[in-house]
Amino acid sequence: MTSLSSSIYPVVWDDCKVRLIDQTRLPNQYNFVEVGTVEEMAFAIKSMIVRGAPAIGVAAAYGMVLGAMAYKGDSKAELLEKLELVGATLKQTRPTAVNLFWAIDKMLKTAGENTGDLSALRSQLLSAAKNIQEDDLNTCKAIGQHGLSVLPDVPEKLTILTHCNTGSLATAGYGTALGVIRSAFSAGRLAGVYADETRPRLQGAKLTAWECVQEGIPVTVITDSMAAHCMQKNLIHAVIVGADRITANGDTANKIGTYSLAVVSKMHNVPFFVAAPLSTVDFSLDTGADIPIEERDSAEIYQVGDTRICAEGANFYNPAFDVTPASLITAIITEKGAVKPLELKNLK
Ligand code: MRU
Repeated sequence: MTSLSSSIYPVVWDDCKVRLIDQTRLPNQYNFVEVGTVEEMAFAIKSMIVRGAPAIGVAAAYGMVLGAMAYKGDSKAELLEKLELVGATLKQTRPTAVNLFWAIDKMLKTAGENTGDLSALRSQLLSAAKNIQEDDLNTCKAIGQHGLSVLPDVPEKLTILTHCNTGSLATAGYGTALGVIRSAFSAGRLAGVYADETRPRLQGAKLTAWECVQEGIPVTVITDSMAAHCMQKNLIHAVIVGADRITANGDTANKIGTYSLAVVSKMHNVPFFVAAPLSTVDFSLDTGADIPIEERDSAEIYQVGDTRICAEGANFYNPAFDVTPASLITAIITEKGAVKPLELKNLK
């Protein structure tokens, strides 16, 4: 039996600074980056030193604490104004993962409701950030358990395909889709995982495979275009992915390539699950068409390592996320249970 808890924590508050695992260096180097200012936190989020929707939310919450600590004046009204600016700076880093906006707004609400002095406000903000982190850990563990109830009942052990990274690194420390996979492994129900490499940033090859190896979970890395072939060969019992933003109707934005995975899952009758905390649901948006999709630097496509692999003169298009229509999703697994996409609004 593997332990249900992971010892990988991507974001750690450490005496007025934040320590982040540098996810741009894994798996070759396991380094930490120390973040002491709002600007450093904004850079860490934008440059994907910290990444994955819930982990970005936790990091941004601590970014707000850093902003409050940097204020040296003695006016609470001025500090609240400054916090609005800090929130605006952090919100500009990445547009798609709603946890970023959710966490910052939660921190601003905490600040606005505080009735104490400046020092009480600072310590309340730190507690609020710690709560966001702790809640995510517990939420992911609940998602892991609810996931067990919807996984297909097959005579053999399950083989599950996943995309991008949704593990400890992408959350406070347990994982959403990878959390369900981890729970299935602990319950003795998992034969192994197929991890899409996840072009262009290779979160599957670099991060998911590394996390599985740390936990002793058998993992097979494939390139994204091999998923349909694996399903045709009956190698996959279920697909589980995470989410960056889910709209009220269940449409789901996740890492680019998720949509095509859902289409081929439908074609092969393979159940397609989304695992995400309710903090990833944006009930203010009706459909996935309203989700802002981040476009990243073309170099992520035309360059491998330091080597250019495409002809000068070619054009590039690099959307970092796509939207999977709710109709392709078998169930959304949340901390309150697994529901059909259309039933999501009942959990609001
Ligand atoms: O660009 P990234 O690496 O931040 O994208 C991450 C994903 O798309 C994850 O699947 C998603 O955030 C869910 S993480 C639990």
